[in-house]
Amino acid sequence: MPSQALMCSVSAIATEVTSSSKEAIAGLLEEARQRTLALIEPLDDEQLNRVYSPILSPLAWDLGHIANFEELWLVQTVGEREPLHGDLGRFYDAIENPRRSRGELPILRDAELRAYMTEVRERALEVLAEVEVGPDAENPLLRDGFVYEMLIVHEFQHNETMLQLLQLVDGYEATRPDLEPRFEIAAPGPETVAVAAGEYEIGAPDGGFAYDNERRRHTVELAAFEIDRSPVTNAAYFQFMEDAGAEPPGYWARDPELGWVDTSRGRRAPVVPEHPVVHVSRDQADGFARWAGRRLPSEREWEAARPQLDGVGQVWEWTCSDFLPYPGFAAHPYREYSEVFFGDTYKVLRGGSWATHPHVARPTFRNWDLPQRSQIFSGLRCARDA
Ligand SMILES: [Fe+2]
Repeated sequence: MPSQALMCSVSAIATEVTSSSKEAIAGLLEEARQRTLALIEPLDDEQLNRVYSPILSPLAWDLGHIANFEELWLVQTVGEREPLHGDLGRFYDAIENPRRSRGELPILRDAELRAYMTEVRERALEVLAEVEVGPDAENPLLRDGFVYEMLIVHEFQHNETMLQLLQLVDGYEATRPDLEPRFEIAAPGPETVAVAAGEYEIGAPDGGFAYDNERRRHTVELAAFEIDRSPVTNAAYFQFMEDAGAEPPGYWARDPELGWVDTSRGRRAPVVPEHPVVHVSRDQADGFARWAGRRLPSEREWEAARPQLDGVGQVWEWTCSDFLPYPGFAAHPYREYSEVFFGDTYKVLRGGSWATHPHVARPTFRNWDLPQRSQIFSGLRCARDA
């Protein structure tokens, strides 16, 4: 997807939401729900309940969690209603229930799960009709529609997590083109772009929706550097593997006739050399950059270079940065979104992948994961000091 298109659609939708029109909010809630339902349309209840991997939740957990998060924030906190299923919400708490345990929890399943999703949504819309969501709303959760935007983005983000799991489902066929991998071949041009030394503004400005970890916006001083104009390709990664004996990316297998094939969803599709490499861990990405005589960019460099970069939005791009708070960070609206993950354990990714809804992929959005993980749709580009 051309980066320009991504930028346009993000800002267009952002304008709709900051205008705080209830119609725009209801429209986006519906868009997110339709996307969620489209993802599971080809699956039966057994597939929704099945544990495919200890590092990914069964889809039934994601679905119940999406609805429960909506119930917690919109229906209970804002709408002051009682929960539909007592204290069931504790099984949908992402911090309390690590992914490896979620298949065993007494969560809602099958018809009961679907009914819960529908009922919560009905109540959330009921509450929306009652509240004030404009810029003057007294409750900070409602000001500029903040809590609604948080819910919309949350559901879109879980769509991506669900797509990670769907790569493990043999024979899965997406029902919509936007749920299929989309990669572009980089246009001819220089291999790198130069970014001048100087001061750059990093992070999300005040006003409008952003996560707490994107604030506060602050100035950083950067030395001059160069960064790849487009993400590292499969062809370049082949060379790294041949030359350095590096491990293949996730889902690759060697086929005696076809060469390297992508085995996600049980397929055996030849790897396209010109496409960005995907499903590489941060350790692999770092190894590639070193092998190439380069390094990973810092997330500050990535954000400063963002206006000049092609091919953003195909693969998440690993950076060398630890996930740390910006100066002046304040947890909002709850500590468990970002604060509990700060430190040197998690590494930052930037950009967004084909599976990321454009509404999520703000230029200041910070994603994070463990350095050994490759189930995410992650690639890289390299940088070097100028
Ligand atoms: Fe969540």
